[in-house]
Amino acid sequence: MDLKTLTAEVCRVAREAGAYLRTEQSKLRDSQIERKHSHDYVSYVDKTCEEQIVAQLRQLLPEAAFLTEEGTAENTLFPQNSSLPLGEGWGEACWVIDPLDGTTNYIHGFNPFAVSIALRNEREILLGVVYEVTLDECFYAWQGGGAWLNGQSIHVSKKPIEEALLGIELPYDADMYSELGRRLIGHFYGLCGGIRMNGSAAVALCNVACGRWDGWLERGIQPWDFMAAALLVQEAGGTVTTYGGDAFFLDGHEVVVSNGLIQKDLLAAL
Ligand code: IPD
Ligand code: CA
Repeated sequence: MDLKTLTAEVCRVAREAGAYLRTEQSKLRDSQIERKHSHDYVSYVDKTCEEQIVAQLRQLLPEAAFLTEEGTAENTLFPQNSSLPLGEGWGEACWVIDPLDGTTNYIHGFNPFAVSIALRNEREILLGVVYEVTLDECFYAWQGGGAWLNGQSIHVSKKPIEEALLGIELPYDADMYSELGRRLIGHFYGLCGGIRMNGSAAVALCNVACGRWDGWLERGIQPWDFMAAALLVQEAGGTVTTYGGDAFFLDGHEVVVSNGLIQKDLLAAL
């Protein structure tokens, strides 16, 4: 199967998973929500949704490995998600999955929230699909095939920093990030056109890919939060780097993304 066809199949899987999330949202009770860490929540919905996605992807590409947020798939490449090798060991194809990005929004009945599925090898992202459930928006890209939203080609903006709408997310780990978060907001408040926070890293990157936002950054995130949408930004003509400006961001826990024009402004603030 070529990458374009495979991407279309993954869109179907992501939409089905999104339909499950939509159905379960009104049934979910507070007593069914567990804490992974302080302010980091999970429920049967995340886990069941992931199991459904994994079962379908296994049929599409039986030889591929899995890296998933909830760890429901047997992971032959990385028995411990926490000790990912840098730039090696990924094999020829590994699915990277977040069955529900924006869990806090989801349990509050707020939007956005999304299903995020990427396929990567050691050095590259081969395809990425982010299905934002509340607006029924399916963002998808495959390597060299451009970036798409519900059948329409999408591109990053051309706005300079003075007019830019910037996403600055504050991750769950306040102890680790609060000083930097304060500094970033202090730096950009008044300098750019506006600052936003949406509670889903995957959707935030897609906002940059389709030109709604002009830049976004977060440290302390996981591969399944950014992998699929990072390819969307690149295929839409944007730039993705680490906080240090390194173009190889795949194995880290941070990304800085933009329309390319304002990448230097974002990196300078770090
Ligand atoms: C989280 C969201 C959030 C980001 C966190 C992620 P989750 O993913 O993407 O926007 O700030 O760092 O962990 O927990 O909703 O899947
Ligand atoms: Ca999640």
